Amino acid sequence: MSFLEKTRTFARRDKVYDFLMPEPVFDDNLDTRHGPILYLEDISVSFDGFKALNNLNLYINDGEMRCIIGANGAGKTTMMDVITGKTRPDSGSVFFGQRIDLLRMDEPAIARAGIGRKFQKPTVFETLSVYANLELALRTDKRVWPTLFAQLSGPQKEAIDETLLMIGLMEQRHRLAGELSHGQKQWLEIGMLLIQQPDASGN
Ligand SMILES: Nc1ncnc2c1ncn2[C@@H]1O[C@H](COP(=O)(O)OP(=O)(O)OP(=O)(O)O)[C@@H](O)[C@H]1O
Ligand SMILES: [Mg+2]
Repeated sequence: MSFLEKTRTFARRDKVYDFLMPEPVFDDNLDTRHGPILYLEDISVSFDGFKALNNLNLYINDGEMRCIIGANGAGKTTMMDVITGKTRPDSGSVFFGQRIDLLRMDEPAIARAGIGRKFQKPTVFETLSVYANLELALRTDKRVWPTLFAQLSGPQKEAIDETLLMIGLMEQRHRLAGELSHGQKQWLEIGMLLIQQPDASGN
């Protein structure tokens, strides 16, 4: 296989690479041995008596990609708000793996547990380069000084390069994110979510 072919294969968007998979968790917190990584059971949410969600059950398996479609007002956003902690359901339970009870966690804790959310409108830093956007997403220490001045390690640079290839933005890496097309911004934002090493400890 030529180098070009290899690169093309590598950049296929339908492929999930090992380095982008969350680290396997052995500490028993994120337990997916029974299959589902996300459980929603009997979820009901009402707004002033109007039931936006009515006894919703949803199970998503580890590694599964699921699309939720529905008419305007069907409750899709409300469901995402429940999973990410923005809205508390009136009843039901939400578990990440077997043990992490998302209803007992606030939004930042849920994000730290490894549940990322991408909104309809891309939210990238428009005045920074594509590369810098990924670099910022990668920083685990969000304090200002280390973010601005710490050098990237070799593995961090590799993670950025590999992500750039996967999201198809290698050639655009030095361009400002604000100059990208809408679709490219979406890919950049997906890359920014994927590059963050999720911590499934739930702390
Ligand atoms: N904060 C709120 N207060 C009152 N009613 C709300 C609130 N949020 C959502 N609703 C209502 O709950 C229902 C579900 O809304 P939701 O936004 O979850 O639907 P959706 O499936 O995301 O729709 P869309 O396809 O338009 O994004 C709608 O009838 C909506 O008007
Ligand atoms: Mg919506």
